Amino acid sequence: MDTTVQVIDSPDRLKSFRDDVFEGLSREQKELPCKYFYDDRGSELFNTICGLDEYYPTRTETALLQAHGREMADLIGPGVCLIEFGCGSLLKTRLLLDALRSPAAFVPIDISADHLLQSAAALAADYPNLEVLPVVADFTRPVKLPDKARKASENRIGFFPGSTIGNFDHAGAADFLATVADMVGGGGALLIGVDLKKDEDILVRAYDDAQGVTAAFNRNVLERINRELGGCFDIETFRHRALYNGAEGRIEMHLVSEKDQTVTVHDRDFTFTEGETIHTEDSYKYHVEEFSSFAAGAGFRSARTWVDGDGLFSLHYLTLG
Ligand code: AVI
Repeated sequence: MDTTVQVIDSPDRLKSFRDDVFEGLSREQKELPCKYFYDDRGSELFNTICGLDEYYPTRTETALLQAHGREMADLIGPGVCLIEFGCGSLLKTRLLLDALRSPAAFVPIDISADHLLQSAAALAADYPNLEVLPVVADFTRPVKLPDKARKASENRIGFFPGSTIGNFDHAGAADFLATVADMVGGGGALLIGVDLKKDEDILVRAYDDAQGVTAAFNRNVLERINRELGGCFDIETFRHRALYNGAEGRIEMHLVSEKDQTVTVHDRDFTFTEGETIHTEDSYKYHVEEFSSFAAGAGFRSARTWVDGDGLFSLHYLTLG
């Protein structure tokens, strides 16, 4: 087995998971960090979500990349080093790479080593002229770029599709943008997907689909706690709830306990009253101008924004002076 994979499955990782679960379930409003959704099963469920009728972000952002890729490539220029934060299926990356003129290097950054290395290897095979330089790291912290990437091009462009920025609170999003600004440096830029504020029904349906895939995705975090931390959650007694919190401008996902109960995780007991929730995810939504001025706080200038005809989703091209 690859040693980097062993690092990911180390006792430290399990300890952090347990610490986060203990801490989150001890709060008055119980919560769990949404990063724990993404084990193998969770990632599979997320991929299914991306193809659901109700979940418009993936197809809308993909269509924007297909329709405007050329224009994006003209703004970005030739011979760039593209840095992607997080590494999904890389389908959107391929659309962008196909539009770009002679990109020099591609640096995907992800904490999940095996998934990252597999996806990067597949991409490298299809783009033989591109230097593909995966980095196993937590992209929410400053990441040192490989020397080869620095040498390949001084023109560094960040790529952060999927509206994953929405899963950070505003302080976290501001920190992330500042980190990206540091990494791409003066003259660099960021192409970022941002989900837009819209009709509440459309938003809630996107996070509470008719087939119950998002419900299974949400509840999977409890299955993961049971399996990896010796938890005793009776999954059937926790119901998925998605709501739009208008004051905060975000979708919230919760797991609602359907009865009074005590759940043991490892050696700790956590009590739930009927109706009490575990807050499992926030997905912040923005107006176009709201996001542009937010990014300006990290020194980014909004050079161009693309929005689909129904006003569902936006892609922002932000530059640093
Ligand atoms: C990964 N992230 C951008 C998704 C979102 O829309 O906030 C995660 C998700 N949660 C439920 N459905 C999708």
